[in-house]
Amino acid sequence: MTEGKFIVVEGIDGCGKSTLIEKLKTHFPDAVFLREPTNGKIGMTIRKKLASEDVLDADEMLSLFILDREEDCELHVFPAINSGKNVIMDRYYYSNAAYQGAMGLDHNKIIAENINRGFAVPDLVLYLNISAEKALERIRLRAISSEQYEKLSFLEAVDSIYKKISDDKFCFLDGNLSPDEVLQQALERIGDIL
Ligand code: TYD
Repeated sequence: MTEGKFIVVEGIDGCGKSTLIEKLKTHFPDAVFLREPTNGKIGMTIRKKLASEDVLDADEMLSLFILDREEDCELHVFPAINSGKNVIMDRYYYSNAAYQGAMGLDHNKIIAENINRGFAVPDLVLYLNISAEKALERIRLRAISSEQYEKLSFLEAVDSIYKKISDDKFCFLDGNLSPDEVLQQALERIGDIL
Protein backbone atom coordinates (compact mmCIF):
# COMPACT_ATOMS: atom_id res chain seq x y z
CA MET A 1 0.00 0.00 0.00
CA THR A 2 1.25 3.52 -0.80
CA GLU A 3 1.85 5.64 2.27
CA GLY A 4 -0.29 8.70 2.82
CA LYS A 5 1.26 12.16 2.68
CA PHE A 6 1.94 14.21 5.77
CA ILE A 7 1.15 17.91 5.40
CA VAL A 8 1.75 20.44 8.17
CA VAL A 9 0.33 23.95 8.44
CA GLU A 10 2.40 26.46 10.41
CA GLY A 11 2.44 30.17 11.20
CA ILE A 12 2.35 32.71 14.01
CA ASP A 13 -0.84 33.18 16.06
CA GLY A 14 -3.38 35.17 14.02
CA CYS A 15 -1.91 34.13 10.65
CA GLY A 16 -5.17 32.59 9.38
CA LYS A 17 -4.23 28.96 9.91
CA SER A 18 -7.56 27.92 11.42
CA THR A 19 -9.56 29.47 8.55
CA LEU A 20 -7.40 27.67 5.99
CA ILE A 21 -7.69 24.34 7.79
CA GLU A 22 -11.50 24.58 7.97
CA LYS A 23 -11.56 25.10 4.20
CA LEU A 24 -9.16 22.22 3.58
CA LYS A 25 -11.50 19.91 5.51
CA THR A 26 -14.18 20.33 2.86
CA HIS A 27 -11.65 19.73 0.04
CA PHE A 28 -10.09 16.63 1.59
CA PRO A 29 -12.92 14.79 3.34
CA ASP A 30 -10.88 11.56 3.46
CA ALA A 31 -7.80 13.09 5.05
CA VAL A 32 -7.09 12.79 8.77
CA PHE A 33 -7.00 16.23 10.42
CA LEU A 34 -4.93 16.57 13.59
CA ARG A 35 -3.68 19.44 15.69
CA GLU A 36 -1.04 20.20 18.30
CA PRO A 37 -1.38 20.69 21.16
CA THR A 38 -3.61 17.62 20.80
CA ASN A 39 -6.99 17.00 22.40
CA GLY A 40 -5.40 14.31 24.57
CA LYS A 41 -4.51 14.57 28.24
CA ILE A 42 -1.09 16.17 27.75
CA GLY A 43 -2.47 18.53 25.09
CA MET A 44 -5.15 19.70 27.50
CA THR A 45 -2.56 20.31 30.22
CA ILE A 46 -0.61 22.43 27.74
CA ARG A 47 -3.68 24.47 26.76
CA LYS A 48 -4.47 25.18 30.42
CA LYS A 49 -0.94 26.44 30.98
CA LEU A 50 -1.08 28.66 27.88
CA ALA A 51 -4.32 30.23 29.04
CA SER A 52 -3.14 30.79 32.62
CA GLU A 53 -1.43 33.84 34.08
CA ASP A 54 1.49 31.77 35.37
CA VAL A 55 4.98 32.37 34.01
CA LEU A 56 5.76 29.58 31.55
CA ASP A 57 8.95 27.61 31.90
CA ALA A 58 10.52 27.02 28.47
CA ASP A 59 12.06 23.65 29.32
CA GLU A 60 8.87 22.38 30.88
CA MET A 61 6.84 23.50 27.85
CA LEU A 62 9.34 21.83 25.50
CA SER A 63 9.03 18.53 27.39
CA LEU A 64 5.24 18.69 27.44
CA PHE A 65 4.99 19.42 23.71
CA ILE A 66 7.37 16.55 22.93
CA LEU A 67 5.44 14.09 25.11
CA ASP A 68 2.21 15.21 23.45
CA ARG A 69 3.77 14.76 19.99
CA GLU A 70 5.19 11.34 20.85
CA GLU A 71 1.73 10.07 21.75
CA ASP A 72 0.18 11.76 18.71
CA CYS A 73 2.70 10.20 16.29
CA GLU A 74 2.27 6.74 17.80
CA LEU A 75 -1.53 6.79 18.09
CA HIS A 76 -2.57 8.89 15.09
CA VAL A 77 0.07 10.08 12.62
CA PHE A 78 1.92 6.83 11.83
CA PRO A 79 -1.19 4.61 11.78
CA ALA A 80 -2.93 7.00 9.36
CA ILE A 81 0.04 7.38 7.00
CA ASN A 82 0.77 3.66 7.07
CA SER A 83 -2.81 2.87 6.12
CA GLY A 84 -2.52 5.16 3.08
CA LYS A 85 -4.41 8.15 4.50
CA ASN A 86 -3.18 11.70 4.06
CA VAL A 87 -2.67 13.64 7.29
CA ILE A 88 -3.10 17.40 7.59
CA MET A 89 -1.66 18.68 10.86
CA ASP A 90 -2.28 22.06 12.49
CA ARG A 91 1.18 22.89 13.98
CA TYR A 92 4.03 20.42 14.48
CA TYR A 93 7.65 20.42 15.59
CA TYR A 94 8.42 23.62 13.71
CA SER A 95 6.09 25.35 16.22
CA ASN A 96 8.15 23.74 18.96
CA ALA A 97 11.37 25.24 17.57
CA ALA A 98 9.87 28.65 16.79
CA TYR A 99 7.86 29.19 20.01
CA GLN A 100 10.11 27.54 22.57
CA GLY A 101 13.04 29.06 20.63
CA ALA A 102 11.48 32.50 21.11
CA MET A 103 11.20 31.64 24.82
CA GLY A 104 14.99 31.35 24.89
CA LEU A 105 15.85 27.77 23.90
CA ASP A 106 18.08 26.78 20.99
CA HIS A 107 15.81 26.24 17.96
CA ASN A 108 18.30 24.00 16.13
CA LYS A 109 18.54 21.68 19.12
CA ILE A 110 14.74 21.48 19.30
CA ILE A 111 14.49 20.41 15.64
CA ALA A 112 17.30 17.89 16.15
CA GLU A 113 15.62 16.46 19.25
CA ASN A 114 12.31 15.99 17.42
CA ILE A 115 14.03 14.29 14.48
CA ASN A 116 16.13 12.06 16.76
CA ARG A 117 12.98 10.82 18.42
CA GLY A 118 11.87 9.40 15.09
CA PHE A 119 8.75 11.53 14.74
CA ALA A 120 7.11 11.50 11.32
CA VAL A 121 8.83 13.86 8.85
CA PRO A 122 6.40 16.06 6.88
CA ASP A 123 6.21 15.93 3.07
CA LEU A 124 5.05 19.55 2.89
CA VAL A 125 4.94 22.47 5.32
CA LEU A 126 2.55 25.27 4.40
CA TYR A 127 3.72 28.45 6.13
CA LEU A 128 1.18 31.27 6.31
CA ASN A 129 3.37 34.30 6.00
CA ILE A 130 2.06 37.50 7.57
CA SER A 131 3.63 40.32 9.58
CA ALA A 132 3.40 40.15 13.36
CA GLU A 133 1.60 43.56 13.34
CA LYS A 134 -1.12 42.32 11.03
CA ALA A 135 -1.49 39.06 12.96
CA LEU A 136 -1.90 40.93 16.25
CA GLU A 137 -4.46 43.25 14.68
CA ARG A 138 -6.53 40.19 13.74
CA ILE A 139 -6.16 38.67 17.19
CA ARG A 140 -7.38 41.91 18.78
CA LEU A 141 -10.34 42.08 16.42
CA ARG A 142 -11.33 38.58 17.47
CA ALA A 143 -10.88 39.77 21.05
CA ILE A 144 -11.33 36.30 22.42
CA SER A 145 -7.90 35.28 23.41
CA SER A 146 -5.38 36.50 25.93
CA GLU A 147 -2.81 33.78 25.53
CA GLN A 148 0.63 34.65 26.75
CA TYR A 149 2.31 34.41 23.38
CA GLU A 150 0.31 37.15 21.74
CA LYS A 151 2.70 40.06 22.06
CA LEU A 152 4.33 41.86 19.16
CA SER A 153 8.00 41.32 20.03
CA PHE A 154 7.36 37.67 20.85
CA LEU A 155 5.52 37.00 17.57
CA GLU A 156 8.29 38.78 15.64
CA ALA A 157 10.83 36.47 17.27
CA VAL A 158 8.70 33.42 16.46
CA ASP A 159 8.38 34.50 12.82
CA SER A 160 12.11 35.09 12.48
CA ILE A 161 12.92 31.62 13.86
CA TYR A 162 10.40 30.00 11.50
CA LYS A 163 12.34 31.63 8.66
CA LYS A 164 15.65 30.34 9.97
CA ILE A 165 14.42 26.76 10.30
CA SER A 166 12.50 26.67 7.01
CA ASP A 167 13.80 23.66 5.10
CA ASP A 168 13.16 22.36 1.59
CA LYS A 169 9.70 21.12 2.65
CA PHE A 170 8.57 24.69 3.42
CA CYS A 171 6.28 26.53 1.10
CA PHE A 172 5.38 30.15 1.90
CA LEU A 173 1.78 31.25 1.37
CA ASP A 174 0.87 34.95 1.38
CA GLY A 175 -1.27 35.29 4.50
CA ASN A 176 -2.31 38.85 3.54
CA LEU A 177 -4.51 37.52 0.74
CA SER A 178 -8.20 36.70 1.14
CA PRO A 179 -9.09 33.32 2.69
CA ASP A 180 -10.10 31.93 -0.72
CA GLU A 181 -6.88 33.08 -2.34
CA VAL A 182 -4.83 31.51 0.44
CA LEU A 183 -6.83 28.30 -0.07
CA GLN A 184 -6.07 28.33 -3.82
CA GLN A 185 -2.34 28.69 -3.12
CA ALA A 186 -2.49 25.85 -0.61
CA LEU A 187 -4.42 23.57 -3.00
CA GLU A 188 -1.83 24.12 -5.73
CA ARG A 189 1.01 23.16 -3.41
CA ILE A 190 -0.83 20.15 -2.05
CA GLY A 191 -1.66 19.13 -5.63
CA ASP A 192 2.09 19.08 -6.39
CA ILE A 193 2.74 16.33 -3.85
CA LEU A 194 -0.46 14.24 -3.98
P1 TYD B 1 -3.85 27.16 19.77
O1 TYD B 1 -4.92 27.60 20.69
O2 TYD B 1 -4.01 25.90 19.02
O3 TYD B 1 -3.51 28.35 18.80
P2 TYD B 1 -3.46 28.49 17.23
O4 TYD B 1 -4.88 28.49 16.75
O5 TYD B 1 -2.77 29.80 17.01
O6 TYD B 1 -2.66 27.33 16.69
O7 TYD B 1 -2.54 27.16 20.64
C1 TYD B 1 -1.43 26.64 20.22
C2 TYD B 1 -0.31 27.45 20.81
O8 TYD B 1 0.72 26.56 21.19
C3 TYD B 1 0.27 28.41 19.80
O9 TYD B 1 0.37 29.71 20.34
C4 TYD B 1 1.65 27.87 19.54
C5 TYD B 1 1.96 27.03 20.72
N1 TYD B 1 2.86 25.88 20.49
C6 TYD B 1 4.11 25.87 21.07
O10 TYD B 1 4.49 26.83 21.79
N2 TYD B 1 4.92 24.80 20.87
C7 TYD B 1 4.56 23.72 20.13
O11 TYD B 1 5.34 22.75 19.98
C8 TYD B 1 3.25 23.74 19.52
C9 TYD B 1 2.79 22.56 18.70
C10 TYD B 1 2.44 24.83 19.73
